[in-house]
Amino acid sequence: MGSVIIGSGKSLPARIVTNDELGQIVDTTDEWIVPRTGIHTRAIAVHETGTDLGAEAALRALGQAEGGWQREEGAIDAASLDMIICPTLTPDAAFPSQAALIRERIGAVNAVCYDMSCACSGCVYGTSTADMLLAASAADIAAAKAAGRPPRRNPLRRILVVAAERLSRLVDWDDRATCILFGDGAGAVVMEWREDADGMLSSYMENTDDADHVLWCDSAFCDRPLPFDAVSDEAARAAAEAPCDPYMRMAGQAVFKFATSAMVRCIEEALSRAQLSPEDVTLYVPHQANERIIRYAAKKMGMPSERFQVTIDHTGNVSGASALIALNEALVEEKLAVGDIALMAGFGGGLTAGACAFRI
Ligand code: UT7
Repeated sequence: MGSVIIGSGKSLPARIVTNDELGQIVDTTDEWIVPRTGIHTRAIAVHETGTDLGAEAALRALGQAEGGWQREEGAIDAASLDMIICPTLTPDAAFPSQAALIRERIGAVNAVCYDMSCACSGCVYGTSTADMLLAASAADIAAAKAAGRPPRRNPLRRILVVAAERLSRLVDWDDRATCILFGDGAGAVVMEWREDADGMLSSYMENTDDADHVLWCDSAFCDRPLPFDAVSDEAARAAAEAPCDPYMRMAGQAVFKFATSAMVRCIEEALSRAQLSPEDVTLYVPHQANERIIRYAAKKMGMPSERFQVTIDHTGNVSGASALIALNEALVEEKLAVGDIALMAGFGGGLTAGACAFRI
């Protein structure tokens, strides 16, 4: 028994931005970007909202729009979703949640919704949390049935995890160190509790303090003077009135160091919890932050680089959606089939990191 992925979808914005175009905005070149990152193009949401992207990815995961992947034939009814979890850094609104906005758009009338802020680990935190909730609910439902009483908690059988990101809204387009890296998009999976299938085999999540602010974005809710401030205190007032930085900031090399060690550590932990060897995994589906980080992890795991899915060349880093997009492309391209084992790994701001192994 376990939480099985029964549908997968993605959505990328229409506008493709090349490295040469970025070279017209900041002092950079295709020759610098490609060997250092593996990125050739990224899709930028000039017109699409997070709701547009998330809903399209969700409808594809449900089999209600072309281009998705379903485990079995036939579309999945949005009304059968019990919950929507949306890992995102860039919701369209502070509230309602991005998940609630997607709910409304796709007609998931029975779903309870919330967003999750865990940066680029959203793929792992989202699916792992959904798995935990499905397992807990299955136990609750079973206990209720045995005792002849109703379940004590919301019964959860199907959860949509949909990461929708518009990093373009957090990027400082004058900062060449970050603006070349990120893209927009959404990735989604429908997870269902099944008594007759494995699904999720293991998960591992961790947090490390980012004491040096190596990966940081000040809140959209900037500090501002409140009527309760001591207005006579000039220093306090000046500090409160200072403009806050709306853009993401990154100490590239420090994050690179964290990313390489975290990725390998998390993969090893997820393998060990599932009692798998690296060879048992058909395809590793890592967060797409830098192709060099992915190559490093493959080398450390003693795996050929072809066993690691790479989509960063045309997506850039789409934060929590990256690996869900990469997973969808692997399923659609039939690099993964039912019965295969896949392993997703993520790391990012927080500092968060994690990995999960699952049987398709
Ligand atoms: O999901 C979030 C997690 N984020 C990551 O995982 C990112 C991890 N970090 C990285 O991927 C890499 O550190 C970067 C790709 C961001 C940067 O590569 P790097 O090899 O670490 O470059 P660097 O920061 O050490 O910079 C080397 C040089 C510097 O010039 P000087 O000081 O040597 O003259 C930079 O100013 O490259 C310069 N540089 C650029 N030059 C052209 C930095 N960005 C650019 C650019 N184009 N876009």
